[in-house]
Amino acid sequence: MAHEDLERLVRSEIELRTHQSTKIDGEDRVEHELRRVMSCISSVSKKISRDLKSLYRGYTGTQNTFGEEQIRLDVLTDIRLKNRLRDENSFHVRQLASEESDEVMVLAKDEGRYSVTFDPLDGSSVIDANLSVGTILGFYDGDLLDGKSGRESMAGAMYVVYGPATTLVYAIPGRGAHEFVLEDGNFILEKEYLEMKDKGQIYAPGGSENKWTSGHKAFIDDLKNQDYKLRYSGALVADVNHIIVKGGGLFSYPALTDAPNGKLRLLFELQPLALIVEEMGGKATNGLDDILDLVPKDLGQRSPVYIGSKKEVELARQYLTQ
Ligand code: F6P
Repeated sequence: MAHEDLERLVRSEIELRTHQSTKIDGEDRVEHELRRVMSCISSVSKKISRDLKSLYRGYTGTQNTFGEEQIRLDVLTDIRLKNRLRDENSFHVRQLASEESDEVMVLAKDEGRYSVTFDPLDGSSVIDANLSVGTILGFYDGDLLDGKSGRESMAGAMYVVYGPATTLVYAIPGRGAHEFVLEDGNFILEKEYLEMKDKGQIYAPGGSENKWTSGHKAFIDDLKNQDYKLRYSGALVADVNHIIVKGGGLFSYPALTDAPNGKLRLLFELQPLALIVEEMGGKATNGLDDILDLVPKDLGQRSPVYIGSKKEVELARQYLTQ
């Protein structure tokens, strides 16, 4: 398949699943619904991509040169996603949770099957330096925080990176991960069935070094001694995307001496990225357990993370359990 837009690919994928499955009509309709949610988000991300370019100068202050109040880009992005998912008539989202809010929004509990989590503008602290940022989304079958692990409840994951180009990667469990590039208003397929090599050549180590544990420090020293190249920008979505696109390497944000659960959020950041990386054949753990096997207990739950190629993630486990 050479060029195909996102909507067509998601549709054909859902149709493929439908043909292969023995599911009853009602359930086929549900898969159609997931496709609609994902397509809708891809169209919101086109707007966000435009906002970032046209409103860039409004980000750092609360007023523009004419003294008018300006909205921060992360807040604007949050509003765009929430409004679109709330007002959409062609499908219903059951529940919504945004990294910008501290509670679950119930949109259409009885009518919708899928719930959505999102980090509207991950990496917003580096946007003033004109670095890449992105949106990370998780799709859940049923309610959020329902006592199930990510592996049991996730129906899909997606992220969009706003950089020199706008790119989108999504994955559905068992159906692989696929990358698209926004070109002339359409998401064009760049690469389908992305793969993660067992071992890579780059590493992105988060967290202040003087707060790393001795095990983590020894692990990072080992990577340095193996000549891994440092690739850390300060925006999780861009740093993990770097490893995904290169097809190997490791991103880590470890437990810190003053923050045993690290910094990054399970629901909004880690489980969606873990699903995508696992679909490529990579791995994501908190050092010991798979990120997808963790059960989110609240929206703000954090976890240390080691994500990327299998060999590096396994090496981290060895250092952390010594
Ligand atoms: O969670 C927000 C975030 O900006 C991530 O995108 C990024 O990986 C991390 O925080 C950066 O943290 P630090 O500034 O500690 O490196």
